[in-house]
Amino acid sequence: MKNKSIKIGKNELCPCGSGKKYKNCCRNKKKEVSIKDEYKNRYDIILKTPEQVAGIKKSGELLISIMERVEKMIKPGLKTDDINTFVHEETKKAGGVSAPLHYRGFPKSVCVSINEVICHGIPGERFLQDGDIVNVDLTPILNGYYADASKTFFVGTPGRDAQKIVSVAAESLKRGIEIVAPGTTLGDIGYAIQSYAEGQACSVVREFVGHGVGIDFHEQPQVLHFGSPGKGLPLVEGMVFTIEPMINLGKKELHILEDRWTAVTNDMSLSAQFEQTILVTKDGYESLTPYEL
Ligand code: MF3
Ligand code: CO
Ligand code: CO
Repeated sequence: MKNKSIKIGKNELCPCGSGKKYKNCCRNKKKEVSIKDEYKNRYDIILKTPEQVAGIKKSGELLISIMERVEKMIKPGLKTDDINTFVHEETKKAGGVSAPLHYRGFPKSVCVSINEVICHGIPGERFLQDGDIVNVDLTPILNGYYADASKTFFVGTPGRDAQKIVSVAAESLKRGIEIVAPGTTLGDIGYAIQSYAEGQACSVVREFVGHGVGIDFHEQPQVLHFGSPGKGLPLVEGMVFTIEPMINLGKKELHILEDRWTAVTNDMSLSAQFEQTILVTKDGYESLTPYEL
């Protein structure tokens, strides 16, 4: 049977009995629900409820507290596996789980990527050396909620190339984050990053992208770190995703090592990355894994 729904005028009293005008009451809720359904059904994007945001934020707080303590450990002579042990134990102590462990066969609890390693470096017997740059990428799950962020650190005293690539990578993330707001498109984010990084004569890795996150490790949408202004999906309030540009000092091409994880620049140039988990708010953004860039 056809449902002949009755149309309620926007200035009429809301049928919910609140005493407010329909336009100031449930009419908005109906709109929100339909955006939520549209993003889920058309794009498979889960817009987060305030409760879910609060959960992801708690996970982000744990992430940042571990990241700050990892930062203090970083010095020449530290074994990368010691970072793994620390992250694994501290996550567990806080009641969380490290998402990377056994994720699609990844053997450790954290990614540790040194110098020409772009991402997904596996901690092991390698020792940090003076002048290295090292990215540490953390993804705790706390009460079922995922937060994902990474930072690239200097080991000892950085050379000029190390300083340059780390500074360009940090600024790339900053520029991607700063424009996040309802109405900004995914292409705007990609363009902000690509135009800046390439303007600094660096290159943007194409094979790995940011992603929706929170209920799962890798959700929709994919967040490309290259693109054109105005193209791609418009952001809406309640979206939670990472931005995580990988920037190379040389060319963008890469290869994967025999371990099937470690991604390395083909020209062996330095690569740096910064990543945060970002919430789209009513009039902008909030980082759920905040640190200074
Ligand atoms: N944390 C990475 C990201 O930013 C993903 C690592 S997957 C792993 O998406 F299996 F290598 F841990
Ligand atoms: Co990520
Ligand atoms: Co990550």
